[in-house]
Amino acid sequence: MRTSVGIVGAGPAGLLPRSRQEIEATIRAGVLEQGTVDLLKQSGVGSRMQREGFVHHGIYLRFARASHRIDFPSLTGGRAITVYAQHEVIKDLVAARLEAQGKLLFEVKDAAVYDLDTQAPKVRFRQGSKIEELECDFIAGCDGFHGITRPSIPSRMRHEFTRVYPFGWFGILVEAPSSTDELIYAHHERGFALVSTRSPQIQRLYLQCDPDDEVKNWPDGRIWEELHARLESAEGWRLAEGRIFQKSVIAMRSFVVEPLRYGRLFLAGDAAHIVPPTGAKGLNLAAADVRVLSKALASFYKTRAEQPLKNYSATALRRVWRAEHFSWWMTSLLHRFHDETPFHHRLQLAELDYVVSSRAKAQTLAENYVGLPLD
Ligand code: DHB
Repeated sequence: MRTSVGIVGAGPAGLLPRSRQEIEATIRAGVLEQGTVDLLKQSGVGSRMQREGFVHHGIYLRFARASHRIDFPSLTGGRAITVYAQHEVIKDLVAARLEAQGKLLFEVKDAAVYDLDTQAPKVRFRQGSKIEELECDFIAGCDGFHGITRPSIPSRMRHEFTRVYPFGWFGILVEAPSSTDELIYAHHERGFALVSTRSPQIQRLYLQCDPDDEVKNWPDGRIWEELHARLESAEGWRLAEGRIFQKSVIAMRSFVVEPLRYGRLFLAGDAAHIVPPTGAKGLNLAAADVRVLSKALASFYKTRAEQPLKNYSATALRRVWRAEHFSWWMTSLLHRFHDETPFHHRLQLAELDYVVSSRAKAQTLAENYVGLPLD
């Protein structure tokens, strides 16, 4: 087989060996930056998102039992975010690709990439009992953190930067009415909690937990007890309970590989970088990578221009490192660290107080949260 650009991975994070059904059912984050929303619309895959997504104009920071609203439009020149689950984006992209007669191969096994430093890089894989080879002009490595493309770059050509956090998130989906009109990020002595949403009937909630915690440690009663405690508010606010129908533990890691290119292989999304979930940057960064890469590939095919492809890594990494910093900062601000001293805890509270009382600091949060303008 031959193609121009071979794409390894089918989102949300390197789900190449999995079925379409599994990919479309994997629960991930749900916050789209303004730029991601615009990109989906421009690409002609935004109509269901526009119908079913929820535009939010701010978030609440809750600490010391009080809520403080960060208003996005007034701090960012009118920008906002859209709550629309990542697996819904995936469904829309898969459907659009199939409708455009694009070839998508699900459930392939033993994928490997070869000849990356030649003019004809190849993807080899197994489908059922058949070994296939796909010869390409370029390969896009979009196969997630655990994928095969990044490790195919010789280790001497890869610089990796990592931070692993001493906690995880316990995430649930609940059948309940929403308790809040906008997301609540809560800092509490017992740990971080986050109230998000999926629809008027389904809510998405997260709790800071042990990094290697397990679902079996969290019976429903314990989940509600922790959520009520961490979200308590002097204003008499109350979280609505409901049937919990999905539970999972999410690891927290920061990771970047440099550069994002080796020969004719280009890495994008989680194959190249991971952010901790706080601030919901993961999918948005992947979309920003692919926007830069697709423009560079389009200009190569139009005019044989090499320069945009040469610039891809540096251009994408600039935004990646901004988002790495923001996600690390939000994570550091809002979580309890097992080794933290009372001094560190006081610094967190001072920083939170500053965010909600200084326009400059609130603006820093807001412009990063809604997403900086795309290149
Ligand atoms: C969600 C996830 C996040 O990581 C976040 O910061 C906000 C919302 C979500 O899944 O809704």
